[in-house]
Amino acid sequence: MAATSLNVGLIGLGTVGSQVAERLVTGQPQLTRRAGLELCLQRILVRDVNKPRAVTVEPGLLTNDPDLLLDDNDIQVIVEVAGGDEPMHSYLERAISAGKHVVTANKVVMANHGMQLLTLAAEKNVDVYFEAAVGGGIPLISTFRTDLQANRIERLSAVINGTTNYVLGRMGTDGLALEDAVKEAQAAGYAEADPTDDIEGFDATYKLAILGSIAYEISVRPGDIYREGINGIEPVDFRYARELGYAIKLVAHTQRHRGRVEARVHPALVPLDHPLAQVEGADNAVFVEGDLVGRVLLKGQGAGGRPTASAVVGDLIDLARSIRRGVQNRPSFTFDDRVGVVPMGEVVTRAYYRIRAEDRPGVLAAVGQVFAEEGVSISSFIQKDAWVEEKTAELVITTHPTEDTRLQKARERIAGLQPVRAVSSFLRVF
Ligand SMILES: NC(=O)c1ccc[n+]([C@@H]2O[C@H](COP(=O)([O-])OP(=O)(O)OC[C@H]3O[C@@H](n4cnc5c(N)ncnc54)[C@H](OP(=O)(O)O)[C@@H]3O)[C@@H](O)[C@H]2O)c1
Repeated sequence: MAATSLNVGLIGLGTVGSQVAERLVTGQPQLTRRAGLELCLQRILVRDVNKPRAVTVEPGLLTNDPDLLLDDNDIQVIVEVAGGDEPMHSYLERAISAGKHVVTANKVVMANHGMQLLTLAAEKNVDVYFEAAVGGGIPLISTFRTDLQANRIERLSAVINGTTNYVLGRMGTDGLALEDAVKEAQAAGYAEADPTDDIEGFDATYKLAILGSIAYEISVRPGDIYREGINGIEPVDFRYARELGYAIKLVAHTQRHRGRVEARVHPALVPLDHPLAQVEGADNAVFVEGDLVGRVLLKGQGAGGRPTASAVVGDLIDLARSIRRGVQNRPSFTFDDRVGVVPMGEVVTRAYYRIRAEDRPGVLAAVGQVFAEEGVSISSFIQKDAWVEEKTAELVITTHPTEDTRLQKARERIAGLQPVRAVSSFLRVF
């Protein structure tokens, strides 16, 4: 007899989980019509069953015993919206091994163990959906899996962390210091109490690992990706960048090279007319270039309970449809392990230097000589604010594209020049 329902075990009832539960409970008739099966919430795993919740669910559904979901043969799909590596990785592995489908919003698990989980799922003939793991409600994974399949993806650049984009925006428009902008982001609900993962670029690295792996069908691990956070940027950098025609963004970038790919996350000067420069507030955007499709921009709310629940429940409906049709809807991704990531030192990029130096003759010549000796060609130079009493001035220099290792060597050597007080800022130019 054909199935009439799909039984769901939900892990997590926080920001995202409560919105998922709410939609499953209140949106039932419409979801059933679209899915062709009734989506039945069977059980919800949380840490604390007594905690007040943003959503009303039958108290009998809540448990803090994972076995009641993972060992229940009636539960066909585990929807994981809890987060973190362990124990969620083990729970999902157990679920797949037991023949359950998985829908997850967990970028850490998918970035660290996605390839193994997808391989296991293929063996067990079940599906793993993870649209919500990257870019909240923006349809990214499904776009790669279906609409862009005919393409050879050449490059992908993204503003993929809403917290840092909000913080950089506030520093740029109102001159806030980083710490003050972070405090404001926390008060507005855009940043966690501990913002390290966002500010230091880890979150963007997990997301780029997932996107890069899918875009190129290779295994890009978070540890392979060059990562730099936004810590060193000062409000004055935004002013100088704007004068030069740039915004400052935390950019996640990956690009195809012969037999290898580039994968990096760092703050960068982005030309004001580039679509990524126009991503405001906590929004996310992914700019993809494929050989057939050309350039595509996917933009929207990259986080938040409701947009993320939109992706989770969308995955669930897709899964229900494929079960109803009796087909495995989506081919598993295949990953070529032989393709490596280009070390950052070999990446060719432009750079911006802000240098504090004594305001006297010969300084510019000394700096210029270092660049010349390191094979770095200067694209623009401006002498900025001077501190008359200290007899120092700020030099702002941008370069033409050069191997990163040379740019770094020049930075070190310039910092060591006698009349130079500091290389106060070094940023790549996109
Ligand atoms: N929030 C967003 O905007 C957003 C956007 C995209 C993706 N995501 C991803 O979605 C997932 C959930 O995020 P969230 O913001 O909803 O988190 P959250 O508000 O902190 O909620 C986490 C939920 O998971 C439960 N939980 C955590 N660890 C558990 C454990 N070991 N055993 C059982 N239950 C556990 C918690 O239970 P208690 O309530 O009892 O503590 C809570 O209900 C994460 O992977 C996150 O990266 C979130």
